[in-house]
Amino acid sequence: MNDAVTFRRMTEADLDAVLKIEYVGHGVINVIIDEAHLLNITVKPESQGRGLGLVLLEQLMKRAYEMNGRECFLELRDSNRSAYRLYERYGFNEIGRRRDYYPAVGGREDAIVMACTLFEE
Ligand SMILES: CC(C)(COP(=O)(O)OP(=O)(O)OC[C@H]1O[C@@H](n2cnc3c(N)ncnc32)[C@H](O)[C@@H]1OP(=O)(O)O)[C@@H](O)C(=O)NCCC(=O)NCCS
Repeated sequence: MNDAVTFRRMTEADLDAVLKIEYVGHGVINVIIDEAHLLNITVKPESQGRGLGLVLLEQLMKRAYEMNGRECFLELRDSNRSAYRLYERYGFNEIGRRRDYYPAVGGREDAIVMACTLFEE
């Protein structure tokens, strides 16, 4: 299935089409000098559990490397086990924890900080 999925950078000209067909997934990375940050990755609920999250993450990390990123950092909610497993599967390791970082129902929730060294494919 994943062979049928291709990726390219979105341009302004794509926006109408994207809004019409609805997004399948998207991710946001920020690269400063050689340090990348994964700010968001989302696959729409109906399309989850088919491996799209992993291919999207692979694509984002490839792009981060092309932009000179050599290490990538991210943060996620302690309760987001599905995302945690995805990041671990790609090669991220837990490197720290920010206590009570996120607001949560009935209180606060820790953020887990993860990091991964990026290599050329
Ligand atoms: C985190 C997220 C991006 C993962 O996307 P996804 O497309 O479901 O990811 P994958 O399909 O690659 O992996 C999800 C699960 O499906 C399984 N899977 C992948 N391909 C599969 C297949 N062909 N058949 C059956 N299961 C499959 C994976 O093993 C994984 O299982 P696990 O959760 O038990 O480890 C998605 O859950 C999401 O958008 N969540 C909401 C936003 C969010 O929390 N983002 C992260 C912020 S830090």
